[in-house]
Amino acid sequence: MQISQTEAEQYERIPTKVFPTSDEAVRVVAAAISHLVRERQQQGRTLVLGLATGSTPVKLYRELIRLHREEGLSFRNVVTFNLDEYCGLPPRHPESYRHFMEVQLFQEVDIPAENVHVPDGMIARSEVFEYCRKYEERIREAGGIDLQVLGIGRTGHIGFNEPGSAVDSRTRMVTLDRLTRRDAARDFRGEANVPEYAITMGVGTILEAREIALLAWGESKAAILRAAIEGLQTDTVPASFLQRHSNCQCFIDETAAGELTRFRLPWKVGPVYWEPPVIRKAVVSVAGELKKPVLRLRDEDYTENGLSPLLVETGSAYSLNIRIFNELQHTITGWPGGKPNADDSNRPVPAEPPRKRVIVFGPEPLDAELGMAGTLHRLVRHQHEVTFTYLTSGNLGVPDNEARMAISLLNELSVNRLGDIAGKERLAELAKEMENKAPFDEDSVKLRQFKGLIRKAEARASCQVLGLDLSKVLFLDLPFYEKGRYRQFATSEQDIASIRGLCERIQPHQIYVTGSGADPSSVAGICFRLVSSALEASGKEAWMGACQVWLYASSERPWYPHEIDMAVPLSPAELAVKLDCLYHHRSQRSQTPFLKTQSGESWQQAEHSNRTTAEHYDHLGLPEYEAIESFRRMKEVERRR
Ligand code: F6R
Repeated sequence: MQISQTEAEQYERIPTKVFPTSDEAVRVVAAAISHLVRERQQQGRTLVLGLATGSTPVKLYRELIRLHREEGLSFRNVVTFNLDEYCGLPPRHPESYRHFMEVQLFQEVDIPAENVHVPDGMIARSEVFEYCRKYEERIREAGGIDLQVLGIGRTGHIGFNEPGSAVDSRTRMVTLDRLTRRDAARDFRGEANVPEYAITMGVGTILEAREIALLAWGESKAAILRAAIEGLQTDTVPASFLQRHSNCQCFIDETAAGELTRFRLPWKVGPVYWEPPVIRKAVVSVAGELKKPVLRLRDEDYTENGLSPLLVETGSAYSLNIRIFNELQHTITGWPGGKPNADDSNRPVPAEPPRKRVIVFGPEPLDAELGMAGTLHRLVRHQHEVTFTYLTSGNLGVPDNEARMAISLLNELSVNRLGDIAGKERLAELAKEMENKAPFDEDSVKLRQFKGLIRKAEARASCQVLGLDLSKVLFLDLPFYEKGRYRQFATSEQDIASIRGLCERIQPHQIYVTGSGADPSSVAGICFRLVSSALEASGKEAWMGACQVWLYASSERPWYPHEIDMAVPLSPAELAVKLDCLYHHRSQRSQTPFLKTQSGESWQQAEHSNRTTAEHYDHLGLPEYEAIESFRRMKEVERRR
């Protein structure tokens, strides 16, 4: 792969290619792999690939499978070595990396079974050292890795080389970081089930590959990518050691690139076109850097921070400060549905019509509540007609314990009180399944439906806290989710039609959606694309002409004030209502309280995120609120009309 860097990329110590979407990025990487495979075929040689698992490479593997099926790409001359495997998981375990690779790639292409290598997680502790040494020997015997594909963990790990891993570390057994285990908790239906140890290639092993491609998508990776790509090399961010490699490139999407200097502070890397959003970003970032309210910034504050061109463009600090201060102030509103009978020329939402039809889309139960429960509560109190639509039931996120408890409760009721024999039989069937199933066996359709009911009940209880009319709390149960598993979802026109049908029936004035910055293979990422496609398909409908589409922030990362178009403040009492609402999603609370850290729970993250946004506004010299929920206008969707 060709490596070249531009002026804008001067802070990047690993050459980085940024793509509008992950789809475009994986097409480029897959095409490069395909080129290498064919080249070697012509030479009668093998190609040795180092492979990763996790969400990141899923799309890459799908593209390789497509190239195999549609363009005749053969993998007969490909040899693969996987980076890592969890200890204690047999190859057939659904969460083992061996199983992942079989399902995501190997079964679907013509790679000979003897060519694939995944570390064996079942190796006895006493034999691990020797086993790891042999794994490296096999890599060397195969001729060394030609191209290593990597993802990056939020701890900065590559493979399972967690912070503290030495630059010359080799294949070995490691202990997984707490954050890594928490990130894997969803797949394992609870953090307690995530293995504590893994076998991983070392940083030194990875650096021996002739070429390295690191892939990353979504805003949750933005901060760690900045540290790895622009920071100093340090073992606290093992991915930063990739800076030493002369043929390593990052392939990332725009949301993952958000914290790189060329996007965060573009004026530092070259001339910029001073459009209003860039100006706002510049003022907010100088104020943040100097910890000064906007209205107290002086000319020198701008010039000393590389922003003389902005002053030349806009005049003095005085007028610039007032302009941006007003803009920021106008994002704040306690009337997310518009303030009736008020001048709305400087408000994010028009006053008319005074009673709006609103659709709030939640990918899985809890997502929308985390992002905008306070705003939902306000919309309801202001008498807007709110339809709260859960796109999926969330049944995949229900731990077995919760299902067991619910079955036993219902059983008690049906046996002792209701005498409902039919119900009892159904419950007995579920109870039997629970008894016989190993923790990671696939749930039957009935059990999934039952788990879905648990989440729906929690969702309804949480909606009641917000005062929502339960007849307007809908569950679309999109087919992609009901038929899929994490990382193996396949969407169809049916999903889009279902969302579109709802929008056309309600003809909303406002739509709230989330997930634009989420990992594209996550439920939130998929739901975002489905809603966008549905709205695109409805683009010409008259109702779309009057519809505002709002993106609500996830609790993944608080948005900076310059990224926010509508900031809805929450009083201490409103924040308490929000937390009460979140607390009703019982199955999503940590199953292992003794392992819980202060900020580990999703409701704690949401509270922290909303409080941080309020602090940001306060520090800029705007009113000091308890908490703020943030929203961005999705003009790109509205503009398609
Ligand atoms: C997987 C691996 C890990 C992942 C990383 C990112 O084989 O070695 O380093 O690449 O944890 O995981 P995802 O892609 O799930 O965000």
